[in-house]
Amino acid sequence: MPPATLQAPAHITVLLRESVDALITDPAGTYVDGTFGRGGHTRLLLSRLDPQARVFGFDRDPQAIESARQLAAEDARFTPIHEPFSSMERELAARGLAQVTGVLLDLGVSSPQIDTPERGFSFRFDAPLDMRMDTTRGMTAADWLNTAAQEDIREIIHAYGEERFAARIAAAIAARRAVQPITRTGELAQIVAGAVKTREKGQDPATRTFQALRIFINRELEELEQVLMQAQRMIRPQGRLAVISFHSLEDRIVKQFLAPPRADASLRHLPVRGEVAGAARWADLARIKPGEAEVSANPRSRSAVLRVATRTEAAAPEAQ
Ligand SMILES: C[S@@+](CC[C@H](N)C(=O)[O-])C[C@H]1O[C@@H](n2cnc3c(N)ncnc32)[C@H](O)[C@@H]1O
Repeated sequence: MPPATLQAPAHITVLLRESVDALITDPAGTYVDGTFGRGGHTRLLLSRLDPQARVFGFDRDPQAIESARQLAAEDARFTPIHEPFSSMERELAARGLAQVTGVLLDLGVSSPQIDTPERGFSFRFDAPLDMRMDTTRGMTAADWLNTAAQEDIREIIHAYGEERFAARIAAAIAARRAVQPITRTGELAQIVAGAVKTREKGQDPATRTFQALRIFINRELEELEQVLMQAQRMIRPQGRLAVISFHSLEDRIVKQFLAPPRADASLRHLPVRGEVAGAARWADLARIKPGEAEVSANPRSRSAVLRVATRTEAAAPEAQ
């Protein structure tokens, strides 16, 4: 395994121009970048906006927020917020904002997170098994694996990793931790490799298990569901939502959320079908994939899917 690097690797922003072009409908508007990272999208966005525009950048990673604070010192239109994006509505309300022009989400982890061994996201390095995006709060992957019920571990690896050997992996984890607690990424990768029977071509046997734990520890799918509902309430009519996702679990949530409401099949003989289904809250749906040049320059963009939609006039449901 390669030795730990001291310098955080850079992040190459995915679908940069496509998402920023799609997001801007008013150069003097107010925008949210829910996943600041190293600010690739935010910087291009700011370069395209007027002096009176505003941009709010969320990230729950302390290092990402450090980089956002540096940008805020250079550009007064930008405000960093060290919170999960699911607190967007509350944080913006606290700053006097009920509506925004556009929301961008570039989901998942950044290269500095995945490529910094001490963050514990990657099976490519041996390091403490952490996996928290926000290292200032919450439970680490090691804490959870050493205390959760074996059945819960199986379920998470199966549901979030779509891993068919989830039961064998959970059993191997339970057997190991009965002897000594699991604390390192290398250890977990080894346990999984011993439990997975057939390897997928070009994929490390630990890929699916690590993905599952990362999604669970960071509540990634719940976060996404919550922010989508908030974006629906906050984006003004004609404003845009742009979401880049990196795996099918995320993309399915976004796709279903943006889809027009469907009429109840049992009422399809009634002439009022459209009204029964309710008016669509999103229009002009687009799905964009990186081109060949981007994928060969940045292989991590390979699985990215950008979905863009324009908010209609239809009212959103009230917050629960
Ligand atoms: C793919 S990176 C974004 C990269 C960014 N667009 C850029 O160009 O530099 C995703 C970032 O979103 C953050 N993130 C993921 N889920 C989050 C959430 N629920 N709330 C806040 N930040 C989140 C991660 O910490 C990470 O820094």
